[in-house]
Amino acid sequence: MTSDNLRTFKPEKLFAPRDFSQLTIRQPQYLEIGAGRGKHALMFAQDNPDKHLIAIERTRNKFNDFAEKAEQLSLGNLMAVHADAIPWVVHALEPKSLAGVFLLYPNPEPKNPSQRWLNMPFFEFLLSRMQDNAKLVLATNIESYIEEAEQLAREQWQLGPNVFEVDKSSQRTHFEVKYLARGETCWQMDIIKPEGYQTRFDEWIKE
Ligand SMILES: C[S@@+](CC[C@H](N)C(=O)[O-])C[C@H]1O[C@@H](n2cnc3c(N)ncnc32)[C@H](O)[C@@H]1O
Repeated sequence: MTSDNLRTFKPEKLFAPRDFSQLTIRQPQYLEIGAGRGKHALMFAQDNPDKHLIAIERTRNKFNDFAEKAEQLSLGNLMAVHADAIPWVVHALEPKSLAGVFLLYPNPEPKNPSQRWLNMPFFEFLLSRMQDNAKLVLATNIESYIEEAEQLAREQWQLGPNVFEVDKSSQRTHFEVKYLARGETCWQMDIIKPEGYQTRFDEWIKE
């Protein structure tokens, strides 16, 4: 189910990221977008040896830090990718290939709604890459962001989001640690992709 309120995403217009090479997707496959210095990705891969994680970060210095730690731990189930996730996802992933997605503390420019994931035409494409019953996790310390995301999930994307406060002892990412240490509240929204959910990209595969 989709809405006509947003521009339609045009995957065919996106060039492959520099140095892109196709990889084998192994199941169950998870995706983290905006992995930062990789705290969550490294922990997830260590704690879940039976799950595979692709973790993408586009900022060079953060990625270098993440890649160095990933190399030291040489985790066979973690792939650290330096790229803009949008063209990378378009070029690398087939429909219904993801068992789960993490968008942790994306911190968009507050005045730029088009940078917020559920406001982006790309979000429909991302939903198309998720398997039935796959979970998308979004976390933020910005109350207006989680409120807007919840409303968009319900009204624009016809999904049933579950929003709750992140436990004060949680330490999944560097930003989460920083916000909770300052005494701020962090929120999480979980979305399960329902069986039979349809998008306009369900048959779309990059030629
Ligand atoms: C505020 S940081 C949070 C990093 C980490 N998730 C954490 O919580 O510590 C958001 C990160 O998302 C990355 N990012 C934003 N949009 C991205 C995109 N389209 N592709 C890859 N990374 C992206 C930024 O470079 C930035 O490092």
